[in-house]
Amino acid sequence: MSDSVETAAEGKTIEQSRIHLSQLMGPQDANHVGNVHGGVIMKMVDEAGALAAMRHAQSLCVTVAIDSMTFIEPIYVGYVVTVEASLTYAGKTSMEARVEVVAENPLTGDKSHTNTAYVVYVALDGQGKPRRIPPLLASNPEEEADMAEAQERQAYRKQQRQRESTRRIRLKR
Ligand SMILES: CC(C)(COP(=O)(O)OP(=O)(O)OC[C@H]1O[C@@H](n2cnc3c(N)ncnc32)[C@H](O)[C@@H]1OP(=O)(O)O)[C@@H](O)C(=O)NCCC(=O)NCCS
Repeated sequence: MSDSVETAAEGKTIEQSRIHLSQLMGPQDANHVGNVHGGVIMKMVDEAGALAAMRHAQSLCVTVAIDSMTFIEPIYVGYVVTVEASLTYAGKTSMEARVEVVAENPLTGDKSHTNTAYVVYVALDGQGKPRRIPPLLASNPEEEADMAEAQERQAYRKQQRQRESTRRIRLKR
């Protein structure tokens, strides 16, 4: 892991990482039943989360984990999808972004919240090695609570990763 005194010492707020991406869904985004393909939404989620992570780390970031994603209701061609991402956790080199997806029918103005996802990124240095990032600062009690929950999720993922690494070694034999 590479270290940088200036990035490690200063903290950055959750708000500084917040990003919105909007896209009109066209026929190219449809699945075989005519709704928007889940993969299109997943790509937007990953891009928005990565941008939130890059804003915080101010370096390239790669995805290392995506928590399960539930599709609450369909999104149709002609709708505008807006994805909002901001950080909820920053470790030494890893970050969790919470990503909310809202679909809007621009003809009626009706909006619905269709997904929430948590995605983990790692900041990389110029050699592709994990790079130290600034601490994440909560600005109010709600953000403090969000960060505490995110810390629990990340601790759980680390346990899972440990279990999976044992399984990978077994598969190699
Ligand atoms: C990112 C990468 C260089 C990290 O290398 P590594 O040897 O796993 O590094 P580490 O074990 O030091 O982990 C780095 C950080 O990521 C975290 N991390 C790694 N895998 C994780 C996972 N599955 N879930 C949660 N956190 C994870 C570690 O806990 C650590 O966090 P910390 O520094 O904040 O404590 C390497 O995993 C990689 O190249 N992965 C592929 C990334 C990619 O290509 N993504 C696109 C998908 S196609």
